[in-house]
Amino acid sequence: MIKKMAVLTSGGDSPGMNAAIRAVVRSALAVGIEVLGIEDGYKGLMEEQFRNLNRNDVSDILIKGGTILGTARLDDFKDNQVVEKAAEILYRQQIQALVVIGGDGTYRGAWALCQKGIGCIGIPATIDNDLNSTEYAIGFDTALNTVISAVDKLRDTSASHHRCSVVEVMGNNCGDLALYAGISCGAEIVITKETGYDELEVLDRLSYLESIRGKKHAIVILSEKITDAEILANKISTTTPFSGRATKLGHVQRGGSPSAFDRVLATRYGDYAVALVKEGITGVSVGLINNRLVNISLEDLDNIPNYSRKDLYELHKRLI
Ligand code: F6P
Repeated sequence: MIKKMAVLTSGGDSPGMNAAIRAVVRSALAVGIEVLGIEDGYKGLMEEQFRNLNRNDVSDILIKGGTILGTARLDDFKDNQVVEKAAEILYRQQIQALVVIGGDGTYRGAWALCQKGIGCIGIPATIDNDLNSTEYAIGFDTALNTVISAVDKLRDTSASHHRCSVVEVMGNNCGDLALYAGISCGAEIVITKETGYDELEVLDRLSYLESIRGKKHAIVILSEKITDAEILANKISTTTPFSGRATKLGHVQRGGSPSAFDRVLATRYGDYAVALVKEGITGVSVGLINNRLVNISLEDLDNIPNYSRKDLYELHKRLI
């Protein structure tokens, strides 16, 4: 019978993490499980920064971006001795289960802890939406809406000046944020790891759209880590009829109050994680597939194929 569990947030923050913390705490207390919050992710775990979380500690956080627990990226957590020390700390604190809220790095840490006998459950939270265990990670929808509102504004000025805006969005190595933003904003071109990048092809396409299709302005959504947005914008100015301008949206994409979708998703995930802990099921990540809550072994995550977005890429292209 589980009496005490802990929760931490780790890696890049994402809107909705607080909603997940709130759900974990309230659902656990409702079934008689005490919850400790660990500050600043695995770093705080190593430093034994624990605090008791009661119902009121999580009041009013549902709507807040960021994470009240703080977060960090701890590279040292790849080291076996560090993981062993973390497990010892958790044993000493009599923590019988640990809920980790974060992305792939967070999950690797959780699986390492599982192998030391600590029962961990992962809740997917990353604006990159790059976890194969779920169709939706907490924060993706909010970040997408942030991107959409920025691109809609850029469209106004870009249309007025007959320009092409190159908008760089986050996503790490995953193109979801760029693709969904491209579809939502009617961007002329989307560039991601999945589409590949051929500079000449992009420039030719923009020239074609202007001279043959009569487009007076254009939006290019560029996923980060592919090419330099400024350089591409300059090339657009020098080799196509458009004047190019670059905008990197940066960390603004990680902030803000979570969308309704993320609030509901985070609440469902948090509650489901506690239900699994209560049943004695750990070593898994919670996720949403076809709008159903699922749990998938943390061990299997690297072997699950990436969700194919081929149909969405084709849809986007067809409509431009
Ligand atoms: O994983 C979330 C993310 O925002 C990525 O999209 C981005 O590449 C990275 O984190 C940025 O990391 P940091 O906040 O450490 O600069």
